[in-house]
Amino acid sequence: MNRSVLWVIGGAVAGFIATVTYWVIALAVAETHKADMVAPERVTGFIHAIIEANRANYTQNVVEKLHNLGVVEAVEHWKEEKGLPLPAQFLLESGRLVAQKDLKFSFRLASLTPIYVWNGPNSEFERRGLDAVTKDPDKPFTGYFQQGGVRFFQGIYADRAVAESCVSCHNAHANSPRRDYKLNDVMGGIIITIPISETGS
Ligand code: HEC
Repeated sequence: MNRSVLWVIGGAVAGFIATVTYWVIALAVAETHKADMVAPERVTGFIHAIIEANRANYTQNVVEKLHNLGVVEAVEHWKEEKGLPLPAQFLLESGRLVAQKDLKFSFRLASLTPIYVWNGPNSEFERRGLDAVTKDPDKPFTGYFQQGGVRFFQGIYADRAVAESCVSCHNAHANSPRRDYKLNDVMGGIIITIPISETGS
């Protein structure tokens, strides 16, 4: 065999090895990136944890503290009166501020038997979700929907009557359509909506 044939075979073998090596590395990198992506149900789970923590933190360290010190109370008409927002309103107000950011990301507190109709379900999916978390509060209700050329993921988390005050205030509220809440009942849900992708349609 002459030298030039050996060179050609050598070159082909080297080229083959280089190509295979390249693909092995490229696939490994792609796998790593895939593993780096966070599933949407985990994302809404994280957001839910923050919303819940902020509401509990606000209730215990601001509302209850200022009440115990006799400084100021949380009242429904906090904008007109000299009061603090109720914890539910604190959550809803944060949701309104986030909605102004044009992130296509939103969250709110809702119920099938809301004090105010605008806190009711906005879609059949939300109605089904609030119903599902009422029956099975430990499991969030999740799924996808499409709106205005954007694919969204929604997570709905049960909101329970964790304190006697939840029950007594809602049962006594002039506007409440339901008056038989008991401690630990599911009173509604936290609905978290995140955009997944633009579909361009
Ligand atoms: C002092 C009265 C009061 C207390 C205590 C209270 N809420 Fe509410 N809650 C309200 C009012 C008023 C709204 C409506 C707020 C709005 O839309 O501005 C509301 C809204 C809600 C909503 C949204 C649906 C609806 O009814 O409009 C849920 C769910 C809810 N509260 C659950 C709870 C839970 C759970 C607790 C206890 C951890 C609680 N609430 C404590 C007065 C109260």
